[in-house]
This record gives sequence, C-alpha cells and structure tokens, in this order.
Amino acid sequence: MTEAALASPPLWPDASPFLSCEHLVAGYTEDINILRDISVKVWPGRVSCVVGPNGTGKSTLLKAMFGFLKPNSGTVRMGEKEITGSAPYRMLGLGVAYLPQRPSLFPYLSVESNLKLGLWHTKPKKAVIAAKLDDVYRRFPVIHEKRGQQAGQLSGGQQRQVEIARSLMADPSVYLIDEPTAGVDPQTSGTIYEIVESLARDLGKAVLLVDQDIRAALAITDYVYVVKTGSIFSEGAREDFGTDTDALVARWLYASGE
Ligand SMILES: Nc1ncnc2c1ncn2[C@@H]1O[C@H](COP(=O)(O)OP(=O)(O)OP(=O)(O)O)[C@@H](O)[C@H]1O
Ligand SMILES: [Mg+2]
Repeated sequence: MTEAALASPPLWPDASPFLSCEHLVAGYTEDINILRDISVKVWPGRVSCVVGPNGTGKSTLLKAMFGFLKPNSGTVRMGEKEITGSAPYRMLGLGVAYLPQRPSLFPYLSVESNLKLGLWHTKPKKAVIAAKLDDVYRRFPVIHEKRGQQAGQLSGGQQRQVEIARSLMADPSVYLIDEPTAGVDPQTSGTIYEIVESLARDLGKAVLLVDQDIRAALAITDYVYVVKTGSIFSEGAREDFGTDTDALVARWLYASGE
C-alpha cells in the first residue's frame, strides 16, 4: 500500500455520513407505524436512493427525517449531532434541504421572488442575495430567462429546476429529494437527473433520492435502499446489485409481491 493510500480518509461507504437515521419508527397516527424500522445514510458527494412499491413509506421516510413527523422511536443525526424531531423550519439552518413530491413553489410569485425565498431563514444583505442569484442564474440559464415570470406559468420540469435552484441559494450540504421527475416530460427528466447527479459529483452534496423511475434513478445512484412495507428489504452499493438493472427491478417486484 502506498503512503498516499495510508493517509487517505476511510473509503466510502465506511466514511462518516452527513445525514443518517437509525431504527426509525414513525407514522401519522399514534397507533399505526408506517416506518417500522428504517436506517439509511447519506454521504457527501454521493447519491443514495430509496426505491420500493407505492405506499411503502418512501415519502414518509423523508418527512420523518426532515421533522414533519415526530418519530416514535429511532434517531436522526447530522454528522455526530442528534437532530431527531427537529422542527422542519430549523432543518435548512442545519444544512438540510427538502424537495417534496408535490410542487412547492408559490405559483403567483415571480421566479426570482421564489428564489429569494430560499434564504428566508437568514437576513442576508442585498449584495449577498444578488451574488447568490448570479450564481444560480449562471448554473440555470433557463431560469435566468424566466426570472420575471410567475412561477406557476413554467412547465413542470422548469418548476422542478427552480425548486432546486431555490434550495441552492442556501447552499445546504444535504438534499432530500422526493420523485424529482414525477409528471415531467422524458427529455426534461434527463436534464433533472443530470442536475441531481451534479449536486453530488460537482458540488459535493449528500443526496437522498426517492424515486419510482428506478432505471433512471439507479443510473446516477451510488447506494441503493429497497424499502418494503416500512422497513429495508435490501441494501447495498450500486455495484453490489450488479449492472443488470432488470435483475434489480425483479428483486424490487419480488419485494412488492410478497
Ligand atoms: N398525511 C397522511 N396521513 C395519513 N396517512 C398517510 C399520509 N400520507 C401518507 N399516508 C399513508 O402512509 C403510507 C405510506 O405513504 P408514502 O406516501 O410514504 O408512500 P410512498 O412510498 O412515498 O408512495 P408513492 O410511491 O406512491 O409516492 C400509505 O399507506 C399512505 O396512505
Ligand atoms: Mg411518495
């Protein structure tokens, strides 16, 4: 082993995660737990992906990690710090952004006003806002073009890009992203997956992606969690599942068929 290799940090996935949850149990009512025992990790510069059948608890997992649901047991950690049950409005300050499954823009506000709301949790100076907007417009030329329009007038795919751009204004370290291409045309879907991948690869963000488009998601994923009725059915590095996506999908279908 070379000296450089000895000096390097632990190899992923043994490296410390940015965000993790352990043995999470949560639900919408006191007596029914949707999440029965779920542990997931999200690493810097990596995309972790949660796949599984409809209604199995994928969105519920993100809501519980982001504080919309108070877990009945289990822990959520940001690095070493325990943040279980932290209110959602505190999460952005902790470095965690959440892009929900349903559209979350203010449709009657302009694109630019929506972007500025990405900094609602701070009191930024005008120069800071201008610099952040410049940065976002440089990354997303389409959004720059549409900055004066009402957000609700944009296509579904463009609105998704504005949501990602809005979150970038706050420069979080972790992204929880729920079904980013639901209802988006196939061509724009490709652009959105490229953007999600580049959040991890180019900007070093830790991304937890929930997706039903399993083939598209797996193409950008490093670590896979297959969820079945509120618990992890199977997990591993993308390579461990092999290069045969169909075989993985078959495992997923098997999970749903039991
Ligand atoms: N607000 C809510 N109140 C009560 N039950 C809910 C609520 N939201 C979801 N559920 C229930 O929780 C279970 C898990 O739902 P969840 O939305 O987490 O599934 P999902 O895996 O994200 O599904 P999909 O792939 O369709 O998005 C379902 O049985 C659903 O009906
Ligand atoms: Mg969902």
